[in-house]
Formats: sequence, C-alpha cells, structure tokens
Amino acid sequence: MRDAAPTTIYLKDYKPFGFEVTSVALTFDLHPNATRVKSRIAFAPKPDAGGKIFLHGENLTLVSARIDGEPVQPEITTEGLTCPVPDAPFVWEAEVEIDPANNTALEGLYMSNGMYCTQCEAEGFRKITYYPDRPDVMSVFTVTINGPHPVLLSNGNPVDASDGHAEWHDPWPKPAYLFALVAGDLVAHSDRFTTRSGRAVDLNLYVRPGDEGKCAFGMQALKDSMRWDEDVYGREYDLDVFNIVAVDDFNMGAMENKGLNIFNSSAVLASPETATDNNFERIEAIIAHEYFHNWTGNRITCRDWFQLCLKEGLTVFRDSQFTSDMRSAPVKRISDVIDLRARQFPEDQGPLAHPVRPESFQEINNFYTATVYEKGAEVIGMLRRLVGAQGYDKALSLYFDRHDGQACTIEDWLKVFEDATGRDLAQFKRWYSQAGTPTVTVRDAWYSGTYILTFTQDLKPSATTPDPQPQVIPIVTGLLSRSGEELVPSQVLELTETSQSFTFEGLPERPIPSVLRGFSAPVVLHREMPEEHQAFLLAHDTDPFNRWEAGRELARASLLAMIRDGAKPDQRYLDGMHAVMAEDGLDPAYRALMLGLPAQSDLARTLHDMGEVPDPAAIWTASETLRDALAERLSDVLPGLHEAHQVREDYQPNAEQSGRRSLANATLSLLARLEGPARAQAQYDAADNMTQQLAALAVLLREKAGDNALHAFENQWSHDRLVMDKWFGLQVMQAAPDAVAATAQKLTEHADFNWKNPNRFRSVLGAMASHHAGFHHDSGAAYTLLADWLIKLDPVNPQTTARMCAVFQTWKRYDEGRQAMIAAELDRILALPELSRDTTEMLTRIRG
Ligand code: ARG
Ligand code: ZN
Repeated sequence: MRDAAPTTIYLKDYKPFGFEVTSVALTFDLHPNATRVKSRIAFAPKPDAGGKIFLHGENLTLVSARIDGEPVQPEITTEGLTCPVPDAPFVWEAEVEIDPANNTALEGLYMSNGMYCTQCEAEGFRKITYYPDRPDVMSVFTVTINGPHPVLLSNGNPVDASDGHAEWHDPWPKPAYLFALVAGDLVAHSDRFTTRSGRAVDLNLYVRPGDEGKCAFGMQALKDSMRWDEDVYGREYDLDVFNIVAVDDFNMGAMENKGLNIFNSSAVLASPETATDNNFERIEAIIAHEYFHNWTGNRITCRDWFQLCLKEGLTVFRDSQFTSDMRSAPVKRISDVIDLRARQFPEDQGPLAHPVRPESFQEINNFYTATVYEKGAEVIGMLRRLVGAQGYDKALSLYFDRHDGQACTIEDWLKVFEDATGRDLAQFKRWYSQAGTPTVTVRDAWYSGTYILTFTQDLKPSATTPDPQPQVIPIVTGLLSRSGEELVPSQVLELTETSQSFTFEGLPERPIPSVLRGFSAPVVLHREMPEEHQAFLLAHDTDPFNRWEAGRELARASLLAMIRDGAKPDQRYLDGMHAVMAEDGLDPAYRALMLGLPAQSDLARTLHDMGEVPDPAAIWTASETLRDALAERLSDVLPGLHEAHQVREDYQPNAEQSGRRSLANATLSLLARLEGPARAQAQYDAADNMTQQLAALAVLLREKAGDNALHAFENQWSHDRLVMDKWFGLQVMQAAPDAVAATAQKLTEHADFNWKNPNRFRSVLGAMASHHAGFHHDSGAAYTLLADWLIKLDPVNPQTTARMCAVFQTWKRYDEGRQAMIAAELDRILALPELSRDTTEMLTRIRG
C-alpha cells in the first residue's frame, strides 16, 4: 500500500542496534499456504538498550510470543513489533504463520514450481519472522526444517537428516540477509573440492529433475573459482558443504547466501544445445561472483545498506579479474566498458544519478544498480592503479585480517589502503560521494622537443551532488611515434586539479598520444585532436583497449556526421576495419568486438551532450547504412573470414572456440546484407549448438526470412523455459522499429507468456525497451504497452516492476512530442492508488 508520505532513510542517521543477538534457532514446518516458523533468539541488551525492542516483520501472522517463557503482547504495526524487554540477557520465542504459495513478490520464503526457496537480501528476512533485519546484526543460526520433501537445505553444515526432517548449523555469524532455505523434489549434481589446507568440501548443484544435463559447466566454474580465490587472494572456503540451487522464478541473477547460493536458473544451467557462448561466459562470472562473496560480503559484510558497494563493487571487481584470467583480458575489458556505457552512464547522467555510496533511499532494492555494482568496481580498479598491484594486495590482506567477522563501511575500506600504502585518500573518496560521470577533455601542444598534454575535468551538478569538486582521475597514457613505436610507455598521469598539464621532454618528434588506456577511469573523454589520430591508433596502438576504442570513436564520428550533416560513411573507418580484419594474428573475439558499432542509445547520449535532440529513427537509419557500407567494404574478406573461423571440433564453451564462433557469426550477419539469408538458413539447419542456432535465427529474422525457422525453433524447444526466453526476446530484438511494439504485444498474448516469471516478462518487455528505435518509435505504442504491463505487474512483483521503470530514465533527452507521451504514461502509473513503494520511488525520481 502506498504510504501517505514515503519515508526516506539517511546514512547520516545510522545508529547501532541496542542488543547483541547471541544465537538464533529457527524451526520451519512447511506448508504451501500456512508455513509455521518458530524462532528462539537469545538477545543481550547493550548499556543504552532502553527497555524495549523493535523487531522488523512484514506480512506475518503472529501466533505466539514469549520472553523467557512468559507470554508477551507486543505492539504490532505493518513494519514490525515493539515489546518491553528485561534489562538483562533474555530469550525471545515466537511462532508466526506465512503463506509462501501466494508470495509472488519473490522476496522472503516463496514457492517456485512446487519448491520452497528464499530471497532475503536486502530486507526479505522480515517476511519470514520477527527479527532485527539489518546487516550489522550478526549471529549464529541453527535451522530445523520439517516437510515432506526429499531435499531440505539451509545454511552451514548438515547436522541431522531423516525422512521429512533436516537440521543445519552455520558456525559463522551472519546477518539475516544471508539466511536461506530450500525444500523440494530436487536432484543433485555432486562433486568434491579439497581446499589448500586440506578441507574436503562436498559440492552440490541442485536442480529440478530433467535439468541434470545442464550442471557440469556450472560445477567446473565453481571449482575454478574456489581455486582462483585461494591462488590470487589467499581465501579458502570455510564449511564442509557448498550448495547451489537453481530456481526458475527469481528477481535478480543470484544470491550469495552462506553455504547455500540460490541462482536464477538462467545464471547457472547450461548445455551446448541450450545455451550460447555468451550464456556460458556469464554463468562462469556469476558463479564466481557469488562464490567470491563468501569473503567479500559474508565474512566481511556491510554495516548498513548505504555501504552496499563495499561488497558489490569489490566482488564485481574480483569476478572481472577472474574472467580476465580465465579468458582474454582485453576482450573482458572491452565488454565491461560496453556494458558500463550502456547501463551505468545513462544512470549517472540522468534523474536516477546517485553516488556509488548513496546517502539516502526509500526502497533499498532500487539501489542494486549499475552505479553501485559496475561503477563501484571501476572505483576499485582506479584505486589499484593508483596504489599499484603490490599496494593493493597488501591492503586486501590487511582488510581480511582486520575486519573478518565484522560489518564495515567505506571508511574502513579506505583506511586499510591508507594504512597499508601510506597514501592519503581524502580526495579519492569523492568517487564514493559524488554522483555523475566526469567529462575529461584533453588537448596537446608541441614546442621544439617539449610535448604537453593538458587535461581538464568537469562534473555536472546534480540533485545529489550540487557542488561537485575535482576528483583524482588516473589517466594511463602512452606516446607513440609516427611509425607506431612506443616513445613513452604507459604511465599513470594523476589528474587531481580542474585543469592540469603534463610535460614530456626530449622527444625526437611530435608524438601521437594514446590516452586513457585500458579505460583507466570511468569518464567521458573528449579528445580535442585531429580525427586522423584515431585512424592512426586503430592501426598502431599497442594498447588493445585503445585500439578498439579508436575504431569505436571513428564509427561514432562517422555516425554523427551522417546523422547531423547527411555525410557518407567515413572511408577512414571502413579502410581501418578492413586492415584490422586482415590481421590474422589478432584474436578472433577481439576482431568480432571491433565489428560492433556504438549502441544507438549511446549515440543518443552523445547527441544530447552536444546540445542536440536525438532522433531515434535517424540514429537507426545511420547505423543500418554504416553496417551496409561496412559489409560492402569488407566484401572481399568476409567469405574467407567466415570460412576460416568455423569450429569443426566438438563444441567447447571456452574462450578460444567461442572467439572463433563470434567472428564467424559477426561475418555471417554482414554477409547476409550482401547476399541474403541462404548462408544463415544453412547454418540454422546444420546447427548442433545454441550459439550457432540463435545467431542464424537472428539473421533470418532481420532478413525477414525467419518464419519457418521460428516455428521449427518453437517446436523443438517449447519444453525448455530458458530457451523459450530467447525465442521470445529475439523476435522483439530483430523486429524493424515500426514493428517492435506490435511484435511484443503479440507475444504477450502467447500461451507461454507467463508474465509472473521475471525472466519471461523481461524477455519480451525488457527486449522491447532495449530496442532503441523501436521503444522510441514516434507512434508511442511501446511506451503505452510497457506502462500497461508495469501497471499489471506492480501489485504482483514490485521489485521487477521498479527495475524495469529505469528504461524511462533517459526520457528528457528526446523531443517534446516523445516527452509528452512518456510523461503521460509515467503520470498514469503514478496515479494508481496502491502503487508499491519501489515503483513510486523510481517513477518519482524519473519524473523529476
Ligand atoms: N547480492 C546479490 C548479488 O550481487 C544480489 C541480490 C540482490 N537482490 C535484491 N532483491 N535486491 O549477487
Ligand atoms: Zn553481488
């Protein structure tokens, strides 16, 4: 229900809890509509406890409550209960009843396909029982589960199990958000891992019967992650079992519950026939991410939810290091930057902008954002660049030694770096407190042997950062000679002032600068330099990121000129791409990335930055024209590239094979622009793996030759939810702009459009919103369709509704007509009398 005045929670108001929780014992008697939860919690008041206790609790029916065995009558509100308590340690016992089968919000204890599962982060535990549901309250949990299910799981180690009964004990003190319970008719894919100090750990991946064949890859990724964290961070696993459960209905990707990770099935289940190379890579990264949380999140957790980036930024940083080690580091870096620009930049540069460590919120679930996660990881990457790899390792050792078992803050985190390295991080801390993407402008000058690079930084004021101050920006820079030699190798230039110059003496010739190598800081870089530099860097840069970036910048410049001045595709870009494609020594995955164009939404952002109003249809047309021109220009090499990168060995989802497939598929797509769909149809017919099958289907749909394949695909895969999500999504993604809304609308009428499943909802409506020209088609049909569905979903699942609202965040970039249509839809949703707190907060911020 909508609060009359939604409450805003502030970081500055943080107060410790008045009690220690010395132990927690929970007993679950499972029933779909009437699960009973008994709690027995030992509390010890701190000196200023104040004689009463507040426990969070939502949607609970209290059956009984006792303190030290005596019945009590607490005062109950929609948010929890308050009860007078003794001035000495006491035992709280309560019994509540909950209704998992009707829990469609997928937060707390809920049911998915007949199995029980939980999601407690951030504040879901309060939907299970009355408890101080805050991350700084840590305790040891014992859990008993009674229910007629073959598999009954909770955190920690199993202590007892018999038919319909199980007991679990987790020796590591943890906050309630890491609690988990799973019960159901599941099968285990099992393995074993021995830690470097000799602890034998049982590993299980629990899935629904029928999914056994999709477990092997996830299991291997888990073992690789466990070894990597020992080798690189010196972190060992600390329980006798590690369980992972796959669940079909899940709001996010996965959850790091202690010893019992719960995964969206899309983030763990994979077989060559059903998952693409990209799916495999994502699964490997998410398994690693959740496993790495065992130390960065669980052993050391967050004091309060404002500190979310303490665990998320660090764990994303760690999982990207892992992927770089397992696969290609340059390819991973480029993919991360593409993702940052697509998801974090719009957030940082629009009405939802917030610091990496926010200072206020209404609904914490709305702050599981690209800024907290991905920019949070970028900030750690910068820190590592500034203190060096050794300084970073020293600081991390100190962090684990000093804070193990604690609930910490960003201040604690920065202090270990200051203590370990002696560096003052006061200015660096602004990366955590200021919202917005800094713009860095670079120009150069040359006076007889002296070369000067001058940088300026600019951060636009925003609601949360009205008076921005200069940040420390590490700009990795190298200087190249005109023949492509490295005159000055990469070094970190530290930009700390608003404007600052760096001088290089004694150079034999005026160099070409390669600036912001490896994307060393999350900024928008303006190069006030001739465009020829980019063509030169595309051919010669020794830094793989900047070489790719040079191609992107040439494509961007060409597209902008096409859109603004009706220019023809830039020949330097096309020739540069031709040269790159002919370089057989270059990693195929890297060359495939080179063939991509800047995202259309990113072009809209650039135009907006230039003070113009982006026209989504014009951006679409220019992008299509440039792709056609690229296909033309590469026509002599495409057939050879396509042929040379076919994989004829048995399918393996490794970096080497998937790189070859991605270049072959990128060339297939370009070839179809020249010669039509025959080659794609042949690939579709012969495909024995999903990567090939889906890539071919995408080309067929784009070429309007996909009807037969679409039917065949549906017949082949209608039994497989994860594959059908792809079938739904691809049709929307490959539709022409004027057909996107109608295609999505039609798919929502399909018998298998189970809209209460977040994956399925996103596969259609998320895909629609990600089609820039289709979502922003001037009919406004997509805006209306999305609003209709958000209205329908909000009462069922506020979290997924609120997340999807973010697709409207860029609305003020567009013309008045589009703005008026979007405003009308936002207002239509906001006018609903019982809109969730989640959606209300998001739409209010977006509406402005
Ligand atoms: N901690 C999880 C992860 O990063 C994300 C869970 C967040 N869930 C939520 N409903 N807010 O892996
Ligand atoms: Zn995480």
